[in-house]
Amino acid sequence: MGSGRITSRVRTMIDQNKPCPLAGATTTTAVSRREFIKSVIASGVVVSSVAYRPATSSAQTSARAGGVERLISLNVNGQIRRVDALPQETLAMTLRYKLGLTGTKLGCDRSECGACTVLVDDIAYYSCSTLTHRVRDRVITTVEGLASESGELHPVQQAFVDELGPQCGFCTPGQVMAAVALLKDNPNPTRDEARAGMAGNLCRCGAYDHYLNGVMRAAMEV
Ligand code: FES
Ligand code: FES
Repeated sequence: MGSGRITSRVRTMIDQNKPCPLAGATTTTAVSRREFIKSVIASGVVVSSVAYRPATSSAQTSARAGGVERLISLNVNGQIRRVDALPQETLAMTLRYKLGLTGTKLGCDRSECGACTVLVDDIAYYSCSTLTHRVRDRVITTVEGLASESGELHPVQQAFVDELGPQCGFCTPGQVMAAVALLKDNPNPTRDEARAGMAGNLCRCGAYDHYLNGVMRAAMEV
C-alpha cells in the first residue's frame, strides 16, 4: 500500500502557545460559533482551500502516460467516480481538484499534519502521501461521505460540535476522519488510547482537548 498509511502517530504536539495563522478565517462571519462549527464539521467547505490549483490542461490531453492507464474508477463515498489521474498524482490532489471534494485539506503535503486524512477501507491514510492509482478498487471515504443522506451528522461530527472542537476549523476534517478510523478499530478506547490514536493530526489552534473530549463522547454513541 502507499506510504500514506498512518503507521506511527506524531507524538510531539505543536507549540500550542502560538497564535493560529488560520484563525482569521472566522473573523468575518456573522453566524454563531456553533453554526460555524457545524458547517465545518459537516463538509469542511467553510474553510478556504490552500494553494488551489485547477486541473492542468496536460491532464486532459491524453488518457495514457508512461504506459499507465490514466482513466480509472474510484469508489468514493459510495459512488464510482471516473477520473483522469496522472501516475504520480496523490489522492489528495485527485479528491480536491479532480472530484471537487475540498473537505479534505492540504496542509503540509508531506505526511506531517494529518489535515488530508481520509479513510481507505476504513483505515486512516494521509491522502497527500497516497498515490491515487494505488487505491483503485479500494473503498475511499472523505469527510463529505460521513453524514447520512438526510443530513444527519456522523456521531463523531456531532460530538465535535457538542464539544466545540474546532477553532479555525482547518484541521477539523482530518481530525474527524482520524477519529472515525480510531473508533472503527477500537470502539471503546481509554482516553490515553484515544489521545495516541489522534496524535497524527496536528492542530495549530491547540484544540486537542476539545477534539479528545469529542472522541470520548462519540465512543459512547457508536
Ligand atoms: S497535508 Fe497530508 S499530512 Fe499534512
Ligand atoms: S488548526 Fe485551527 S482548529 Fe485545528
